[in-house]
Order: sequence, then structure tokens, then C-alpha cells
Amino acid sequence: MTKKALYTGSFDPLTYGHMDIIERASNICDELVVGVIYNLYKKPFFTTEERVKMIEEATAHISNVRVDSFSGLLANYVNENHFDIVVRGLRATTDFEYEIQMAQVNAGLYEGNTETIFLMTDPQYSFISSSAVRELYAFGASVEKYVPETVLHYIRKKMTREEKI
Ligand code: COA
Repeated sequence: MTKKALYTGSFDPLTYGHMDIIERASNICDELVVGVIYNLYKKPFFTTEERVKMIEEATAHISNVRVDSFSGLLANYVNENHFDIVVRGLRATTDFEYEIQMAQVNAGLYEGNTETIFLMTDPQYSFISSSAVRELYAFGASVEKYVPETVLHYIRKKMTREEKI
């Protein structure tokens, strides 16, 4: 039976930390959908379309990865699309407390046998976050080692145009 997994987040922008999870998750399922979500509590810097495009470009070499976007409840998207697995990355124990609560709430909403699985982030990326990347870049620090080349182009283009975080 084929296993369909979802890795979701706001990816604003995609970082090497996310890429690490995408690459490893794609090895343990048949199809991996990277789901770009509109998070109600965050004002996005990149549009959903830009985020989808940058992830498509950065993951073009992984044949079983597809990128999509959605809004609303994660569980609704999971139920509508019949995902077997929801993948989450854990960077530190601080992530764990939030993640376990979210996984338990969602488990009560899944209509099928969807399982949440956690992959430990590679320690070299455990301190990265999308907002840290944006802030570093805005203040002139180098972010090459945190984001794929294609994402760097999007950041440069957007920051030059808007000149703000
Ligand atoms: N490497 C590097 N950074 C990582 C990472 C990794 N492996 N994993 C997470 N991060 C970073 C992200 O870049 C993000 O940084 P930011 O806060 O600077 O933007 C931060 O960690 C949090 O990431 P994440 O947990 O993926 O949050 P999110 O806002 O991107 O997405 C959802 C959270 C999508 C899972 C959650 O909001 C959700 O499910 N929303 C839908 C609504 C819903 O169903 N709510 C009910 C939930 S109980």
C-alpha cells in the first residue's frame, strides 16, 4: 500500500532545516506533499505563491515531492486528501511541548488512521527559523548557509523591492 505523507508549515522562507526534513521524509514515504499554510497568527513576508514556487524549485530533484498550499484547519486538509502520515520536525524540547499538544488535538479530528511522526532536526540546523533568516538578511548578515540558492534569489529580490522585513 502506498504511503502518502504531508509536511506542513509556513516556510516563510524555506530553510536548509526544512530541506533536511523534506529529504528524509521523502525517503520513508511514497509521496510527500509539502503543504504551505497560511498561519493566522503570522503576517507572511512572502506570498503563498512565492513560497510554493521557491519550494518547488528547491525540491525539483526529489521525484516523490509535490508542493501545495491550503488554509484553515490542518486536520480538514489531511482528511480531504487522505494523508497517512503528518511529518513534523523537532528542533528542541521547546518545540516538543507545542507539537505534542497539536498532534493530540489533531488526532481527535482525523477521520482515518493518520499518524503524526516527528523527525529530529539535524543539530546543525536546530537553531534556524524562517524569521531569523529574514532578520539576519535584513541587517546585512550572510544567510547563504541557511537557505538553498534558489531561496536566496527570492530573498534578494523581495528585500530589494521592499527594503524591510
Ligand atoms: N528547520 C528549521 N526551521 C524550522 C524547522 C526545521 N526543521 N521546523 C520548524 N522551523 C521553524 C519555522 O521556520 C518557523 O519559523 P518562524 O516562527 O520564524 O516562522 C518555526 O520553526 C515554526 O515552524 P512551524 O511549527 O512549522 O510553524 P508554522 O507557523 O510554520 O506552522 C502549523 C504551524 C502549520 C503546523 C500550524 O500552525 C497549523 O497546523 N495550522 C493550521 C491550523 C490548525 O489546524 N490549528 C489547530 C492546531 S491544534
